[in-house]
Amino acid sequence: MKERLQQLQQDALSALQQAEDLKALQDVRVEILGKKGSLTEVMKGMRDLSAEERPVVGSLVNTLKKEFEESFAARQLALQQQDIAAKLASEKIDVTLPGRQTATGSLHPVTLVSDEVVDIFNRLGFAVAQGPEIEQDFYNFEALNIPKDHPARDMQDTFYIGDERVLRTHTSPVQIRTMLEQQPPVRIIAPGTVYRRDSDLTHSPMFHQIEGFLVDEQVTFADLKGTLVHFLNEFFGSGHKIRFRPSFFPFTEPSAEVDIECVICNGEGCRVCGKTGWLEILGCGMIDPEVFASVNYDAEKFNGFAFGMGLERLAMLKYGVNDLRLFFENDLRFLKQF
Ligand code: DAH
Repeated sequence: MKERLQQLQQDALSALQQAEDLKALQDVRVEILGKKGSLTEVMKGMRDLSAEERPVVGSLVNTLKKEFEESFAARQLALQQQDIAAKLASEKIDVTLPGRQTATGSLHPVTLVSDEVVDIFNRLGFAVAQGPEIEQDFYNFEALNIPKDHPARDMQDTFYIGDERVLRTHTSPVQIRTMLEQQPPVRIIAPGTVYRRDSDLTHSPMFHQIEGFLVDEQVTFADLKGTLVHFLNEFFGSGHKIRFRPSFFPFTEPSAEVDIECVICNGEGCRVCGKTGWLEILGCGMIDPEVFASVNYDAEKFNGFAFGMGLERLAMLKYGVNDLRLFFENDLRFLKQF
């Protein structure tokens, strides 16, 4: 009996040592001390023992039980510590690792150019104004001296939204909206998106313009010229020849187009300037009295100038981009260069 018990104890203790996790350890305990555990069975059998044997076995069983419990507790503690150590190791954060870089975006070249033009005119005292892209016929055409059935409407292939609404074909309607709200003197620069039914290598149905105008007393064409020459020198760098050519726009009289000596070939003649040595940059003129009439400005007292230009074209010339479509494809390899 004594030997059987000692054997049992030895097996139990080595089972404890072999238990590899807390669950296995509990299982060992149940095998030994559970309701049907081997030591429990021995204790149950004690009532069959003789009166002399019983206390001897009883005290032995108690000792074994105590030893078992102590071993169990020690092994349990060891396994718990092992668990914590494993958890600490697997959840370790190396704070010395370099962080992951978040990708920073960059501004679109057309935005960069728009910001730069706005900045140059801000310094001349022009304030920024904006208007809606879905525009009423009145602001886009009528008030700009382009009545219905006027041949000048042929200059622009328009996206119509019903009879009286269009996608604005230029930023010039901002002139009307501003003048209806403010009395002279006004100095406005107005960048924005415009739309025309045009799509080929050099035309996009959606593109961007920037409009500028100034109204005050005694404004002359010399003011217009001085302002635009200053702007072009700031934007393209000074030293390029600039010329004003007579032209026509319904909302200005007289009207002109402004050319700059080709900034790619310095006037030698190249593919970009079509071998002429000149680049057409913008349209401008003195605001037509008819326009003042539609915004109730006194044309006897006030006069002013206006100009408008395409931002994609400015960006192409400034950055040497030779294909308009690059601006709209959103190819990151292109955009990341700015
Ligand atoms: N709105 C004209 C266009 O889209 C550009 C323009 C020309 C604007 C002359 C002006 C101007 O303000 O005076 O082609």
